[in-house]
Amino acid sequence: MKSRKILVTSALPYANGPIHLGHLVEYVQTDIWARFQKMRGHECYYICASDTHGTPIMINAEKQGVTPEALVARMHGEQLADFQGFQIGFDNYHSTNSEETRELAYTVYRRLKEDGKIVRRSISQLYDPEKGMFLPDRFVKGECPKCGSADQYGDNCERCGATYGPTELKNPYSAVSGAKPELRDSEHYFFKLGDCTDFLANWTREAGRLQPEAANKMAEWFEAGLQDWDISRDAPYFGFEIPDAPGKYFYVWLDAPIGYMGSCKNLFDRLGIDFDAWWKAGSDAELYHFIGKDILYFHALFWPAMLHFSGYRTPTAVHAHGMLTVNGEKMSKSRGTFITARSYLELGLNPEWLRYYYAAKLNSRIEDADLSMEDFALRVNADLVGKYINIASRAAGFLTKRFNGRLAAGLPDTDLLARLQRAAPALAEAYENREYGRAVREIMALADEVNQYVDQVKPWELARQQDQETALHQSCSLLINAFRLLTLYLKPILPRLTAEVETFLAIAPLTWSDAETLLLDHPIQPYQHLMTRIDPKQLDALVEANRQNLNADQPAAAPQFEPIADTISIDDFGKIDLRIARIVDARHVEGAEKLLQLTLDIGSETRNVFAGIKSAYRPEDLIGRLTVMVANLAPRKMKFGLSEGMVLAASGDMAPGLFILSPDSGAQPGMRVR
Ligand code: MSP
Ligand code: ZN
Repeated sequence: MKSRKILVTSALPYANGPIHLGHLVEYVQTDIWARFQKMRGHECYYICASDTHGTPIMINAEKQGVTPEALVARMHGEQLADFQGFQIGFDNYHSTNSEETRELAYTVYRRLKEDGKIVRRSISQLYDPEKGMFLPDRFVKGECPKCGSADQYGDNCERCGATYGPTELKNPYSAVSGAKPELRDSEHYFFKLGDCTDFLANWTREAGRLQPEAANKMAEWFEAGLQDWDISRDAPYFGFEIPDAPGKYFYVWLDAPIGYMGSCKNLFDRLGIDFDAWWKAGSDAELYHFIGKDILYFHALFWPAMLHFSGYRTPTAVHAHGMLTVNGEKMSKSRGTFITARSYLELGLNPEWLRYYYAAKLNSRIEDADLSMEDFALRVNADLVGKYINIASRAAGFLTKRFNGRLAAGLPDTDLLARLQRAAPALAEAYENREYGRAVREIMALADEVNQYVDQVKPWELARQQDQETALHQSCSLLINAFRLLTLYLKPILPRLTAEVETFLAIAPLTWSDAETLLLDHPIQPYQHLMTRIDPKQLDALVEANRQNLNADQPAAAPQFEPIADTISIDDFGKIDLRIARIVDARHVEGAEKLLQLTLDIGSETRNVFAGIKSAYRPEDLIGRLTVMVANLAPRKMKFGLSEGMVLAASGDMAPGLFILSPDSGAQPGMRVR
């Protein structure tokens, strides 16, 4: 097979807020595809960046008292950490606020201008005289011209659904300063999209460029006629100043997609790859954009037109997906279903649970997908843990204990493994066509067959019979081979788990063609548990952690906590012996209103501690958890018994709740905290 040159992108997340589980649908979908292509041996790069320009970021930075550059630099770091937490394997995560993107934006603009595709025209727009800036539609508010509802945005009414222009609002005011906006004229630069109609009509109809639903949407847009696109904004604006037009800036959506090129350029310069060979018109490389359906217009019309008329290649295809709903509804901050990636990771939930669940729900169509918390737990527990992981845990123990951790040189006479191997082409086709749900269903059907085999040969019974050594050895070896093949097929979805399996099996990183081989007469490592089940309580906690009391538009005032205490020396601090403790038992104390009785394992000994945390924790939720205790506090005699230390918890008079501390995973009871 000839190796393909493939560039893959996800939309560049706007650097003005946290990554949430809705975003992750897209990044997981793209990441699975890129990993699959790499496993196939293709030269594939997964490119992304943060999208950094525009009025919302400028205003937000001002509110926070920082420069927009500082704000987007911070967001870039936070977003990248979130993505890494979910194993999103970008080859580059750059920024649109970069020299590469600036230069490419200038090149594209200059060529479009030379081609006569840019015109200037004066327009009137609402202006905030107090703030001294033109107001984007979203920054003008007022009464809906249709139904009269107050405080509606300048583009549509959230009450009655009417759409209109900002000048139609009654009693308008600036959302930035509250001032009454006035109409002012200003010269704007336009990209003559209308002149690109013939090219775009052909391009969007070419085979494979767009999904059928997207092509239909295009037809509607063509019907309505393509309008010229306003690509400039007046100062003050955070973005790239237009080279020959002082005080005018590129609209954020002009340089955003050019950010794909900028990020690629930044990567290729480092790797020494010829950027033009991949991006100039006529390139033999493939280019795929994964996006949400909300930004189809930009990617299927503006973007190919910009590329084509500036001498660059156009996308091979644009793959749009639908929106995520949670528990059947739009994500909502008050319901706690606007769930940030960070909160998911911080609560210690396994990111691969979510990757698997999304994969199981994704297909090549533009359909909205629902994350139902109940279904999520059921599905992951039944499929991943119950069907797949189970195979390894059932076979590995016997191999380690009875056969010195070595797989047999021969296998039982069954075509089970051959059937698993024969599934590879169909599974590859499913991945290639973004039919991940189908791939997952087929993989789980294979896992079912393997489990039926286990139930049939009953290794645990063979293990009790003296004369069945070979049968036991061979059938367990077969199961490990089946597990290896299933792992290979799941690798694009579960990269971290796969890496652990590769260590367990003592094999090189699996590639797709490894499906043609088997592992015989080969040593493996002792089995260590690979994945736990989802406890539905973890999902309740996730929703709870994301629930926000929203007082429409009023940012909650940061609560004031007690002042910082007097300075102490490092020696003073050193006197406090803090230890990691495992709560091995927790129970109610008869007659105590606030106390729970905890038994704490601190490695060398166990301690009995009465902790005033009854209002916040149920004993059964604490058992097994790690926390931090003061281990050298003088024991205190209480009405209920002797308390031998103290657990640490956060609280504040001005905010509700009480929160005991937990260490990052990996900490052991008895470790000192300093
Ligand atoms: N900055 C633009 C993209 C510029 S691309 C040159 C943008 N950013 S975004 O942060 O709002 O969204 C990034 C991607 O996440 C988009 O493709 C968007 O469709 C996707 N999603 C955001 N919320 C989503 C859901 N609730 N569900 C699924 N995808 C979602 O758009
Ligand atoms: Zn209305």
